[in-house]
Amino acid sequence: MDSVILQADRVCAGYGSQEVLRSVDFTIGPKELCGIIGPNGAGKTTLLRTLYGILPVSSGAVRYEDRDISRLSVRERLAAGISYVAQERNVFPGLSVGDNIDLAVSVLTRGWTDGQRRQRKEIVYDLFPRLRERQRQAVGLMSGGEQRMVAISLGMIGKPRVLLLDEPTTGLAPVVVHQLMDAIRSFSAEEGVATVVVEQNVLSLLSVVDTICIVKDGRTTRYDGDPSSIRDKDIWEYL
Ligand SMILES: Nc1ncnc2c1ncn2[C@@H]1O[C@H](COP(=O)(O)OP(=O)(O)OP(=O)(O)O)[C@@H](O)[C@H]1O
Ligand SMILES: [Mg+2]
Repeated sequence: MDSVILQADRVCAGYGSQEVLRSVDFTIGPKELCGIIGPNGAGKTTLLRTLYGILPVSSGAVRYEDRDISRLSVRERLAAGISYVAQERNVFPGLSVGDNIDLAVSVLTRGWTDGQRRQRKEIVYDLFPRLRERQRQAVGLMSGGEQRMVAISLGMIGKPRVLLLDEPTTGLAPVVVHQLMDAIRSFSAEEGVATVVVEQNVLSLLSVVDTICIVKDGRTTRYDGDPSSIRDKDIWEYL
């Protein structure tokens, strides 16, 4: 890889006295789409939370564009261009789709012109036409897949340079999984956003990502080959 936009450098992190990440190395290049796989409880969510600043590092460093951001707050990382969509659906269920999007726009695009904001919303509605159709519907009354589209949109709307997605398709029907993966791939490629996707739908993931990182027992291993060439039976060796 030519350059790195976000890096975990020998990061240790966890919850209280329980260390989960044990000297983890992770890098992603600008515009790269990286998939993270690994068994339940391996530390995938913990890694994303540490990159985003929800969890502090106990040792090691998180670097973004060549500066150490280990001590920056979530708010500061968000302002610097790192966006995170949690495994839990972080949406406002009582508000309509349009109000969810408008709220995120008003918080994340301070200083933008109305035209820039409209254009940003169009990008998201073009990516998820279903959301354009359902702008007036309360998010809490939408299907699981549609709610996930809203949550992902909120992560995309502020024009991030790095997008961290934790299990965006888990629990959804195969056809919706494909739609969401395609939308994530298009967004990453067209906007040039470094995108990290933690996924349990490994086969769908392998068909869209540039690189794969395996998390197991709080440690990371980078898969060096072409992700689309990993065969079904080989995957289980990594998990
Ligand atoms: N808030 C928390 N407090 C204490 N321990 C936690 C907390 N969240 C996670 N853990 C522990 O940290 C370890 C790693 O959890 P993590 O959520 O990172 O795994 P994961 O790889 O994302 O798993 P999954 O595939 O099930 O989402 C687990 O042993 C889990 O029990
Ligand atoms: Mg998780």
